[in-house]
Amino acid sequence: MLRELDGNPLSSALPGETVHSIRRRGLQALGSTRPTRAALRYRYQHRDPALAVDRFDATFPSPVGIAAGFDKNAVAIHGLAALGFGSVEIGTVTPDPQNGNPRPRFYRLPADRGVINRVGISSQGADRVRERLDAHGTPDVPIGLNVGKMNPSGEAEALVDYRRVVDRLSPYADYVVVNVSCPNTAEEFDQQSPEHLRGIFETLEAEDDETTPVLVKVDPDTTEDALREVVDVGEECGLDGIIATNTASERPDLASPRRYEWGGLSGKPIEDRSTDVVRTLAEYTDLPIIGVGGVDSAISAYAKIRAGASLVQLYTGFLYEGPVISRQINRGLVTLLERDGFETVEDAIGADLE
Ligand SMILES: Cc1cc2nc3c(=O)[nH]c(=O)nc-3n(C[C@H](O)[C@H](O)[C@H](O)COP(=O)(O)O)c2cc1C
Repeated sequence: MLRELDGNPLSSALPGETVHSIRRRGLQALGSTRPTRAALRYRYQHRDPALAVDRFDATFPSPVGIAAGFDKNAVAIHGLAALGFGSVEIGTVTPDPQNGNPRPRFYRLPADRGVINRVGISSQGADRVRERLDAHGTPDVPIGLNVGKMNPSGEAEALVDYRRVVDRLSPYADYVVVNVSCPNTAEEFDQQSPEHLRGIFETLEAEDDETTPVLVKVDPDTTEDALREVVDVGEECGLDGIIATNTASERPDLASPRRYEWGGLSGKPIEDRSTDVVRTLAEYTDLPIIGVGGVDSAISAYAKIRAGASLVQLYTGFLYEGPVISRQINRGLVTLLERDGFETVEDAIGADLE
């Protein structure tokens, strides 16, 4: 089973989404018993005190986490933590179950080291995810809860949707992320408009000081002015952080035959764009930023940290590199920190900013 995980599934003849779910099921199985988790840890985990980051009232043992979408329904959190990821973001979870878009909806772009997906927001729903978390508990790394709205919900209903998921699942989460940046759902309103964001943040931050930290996830195609507006509204409403970025609608030059498929682009082709967004945000705000987009190596993770990201996440990099990716990045980060004279990752955050 370990060997199966190590294979290079993106070169397989099977559809990309099928390969991904086979691997996730492998991780689910390996994460379900103590001895198999120990075997995963032994083979893949690399811990070093220099890598620990404290944010959102939690300690992340590594800055490298698994991005939302990889484990939408929290089936493989224990396996992913055992691989050495410093956090796992589950979701996007919606209040009730809903299907995403029809298949096929996931395309590999191997020549570009990217993926185009139009999975949409598909979720087993908050109750099913809660049952699973109740039954299996959470691992010893921070868990992010990425929340979404039902497809037909308009602006006002969306606020109710987010609240419903948070009410059911926040006890299991170290932070909550509002996903207003999925590029492959048909929306009749601008989910990132300042008015809508204000409504969301006020709804989720309103309860009391004890609420789980709330973050918002932005789209890489957002203009600098719009990013500043997100920050302004967020700071006014007590937002706790920003995730930059989701997949992109805009297309740079791509070589793969599937480049014309519609959907969100991820992986290498969006790396620089998402790092630019991290930098723009970090120059403007002290809110913690989680950088995501094209991270597949220690160098790419380090670039985001130096641009101002307190933590990083990845999805597409795992598809191309396999489960060794967390160990590769964690080891490589320790070497890069030593090379540049930083004692810890915390010291390197924002090192490239003026
Ligand atoms: C197949 C797929 C499904 C995704 N699903 C979600 C999701 O449900 N919610 C979300 O916020 N982001 C989702 N994402 C976006 C990722 O979390 C991440 O922001 C994006 O892929 C950029 O990171 P990467 O280049 O490391 O893949 C998804 C990405 C992919 C490739």
